[in-house]
Amino acid sequence: MCNFFLITALEIEEKCEASDTEKQLAATAIRNVLSVLTHYSESTGRLVCEKRFGPSFVSSSLHISLGRIKQSFVLVDPHLPDIPIVYASDAFLRMTGYARNEVLGQNCRFLTGVDTDPSALHQIKQSIQAQQACSVRILHYRKDKSSFWNLLHISPVRNATGKIAYFVGVQIEEGSVDRHGLSPEMRQLSVVGSIKVAVRISSMSSSSKSP
Ligand SMILES: Cc1cc2nc3c(=O)[nH]c(=O)nc-3n(C[C@H](O)[C@H](O)[C@H](O)COP(=O)(O)O)c2cc1C
Repeated sequence: MCNFFLITALEIEEKCEASDTEKQLAATAIRNVLSVLTHYSESTGRLVCEKRFGPSFVSSSLHISLGRIKQSFVLVDPHLPDIPIVYASDAFLRMTGYARNEVLGQNCRFLTGVDTDPSALHQIKQSIQAQQACSVRILHYRKDKSSFWNLLHISPVRNATGKIAYFVGVQIEEGSVDRHGLSPEMRQLSVVGSIKVAVRISSMSSSSKSP
């Protein structure tokens, strides 16, 4: 009798081997569930899950803190292949015309185009390698292919242990006016400061929760 169940269980297990299509469907379902949870988390301010959701997401507590920063910025993860975007602010999406799911997981180079100055890109790459902040004026392209001059400030962001957790890129469209009368440099530094605090606090709370 026992053997019968064992054999049946083994057979069932063999038959449960998922096909590639089924795996893709499962992955899509997981992404949809996480997207709903993240949206719920954002709209209610309540934590749904403290864990990282994978390469396309930051933890939900950090997500909530970052959502309060109303400027255009992205966070990229330098520990993942090709330094992908793991967080994009609503203002960034409005400025560039892309949807969130089109930019998460992508390297920022999709913003460049035919007339983007290679020396600006070289400067960005050097500062990333040296793990230093940099500011460049760079020609960027929106999804609809229209171009704009972007005052881009990039800075490493460290966690509570001092390790670089992310790089932040703050974008200000040249000529845009700040309602508080702040210069582009002051706006960039204020955003970077808020992000540094949010990341540090989030890393402190997640490390205090680990066993
Ligand atoms: C935080 C951060 C923000 C970045 N933002 C931009 C950006 O807005 N535009 C851009 O062309 N490159 C940006 N980069 C650099 C790109 O990721 C990439 O290194 C650069 O475009 C060179 O591309 P390549 O590797 O194809 O030469 C950013 C990098 C970091 C770390």
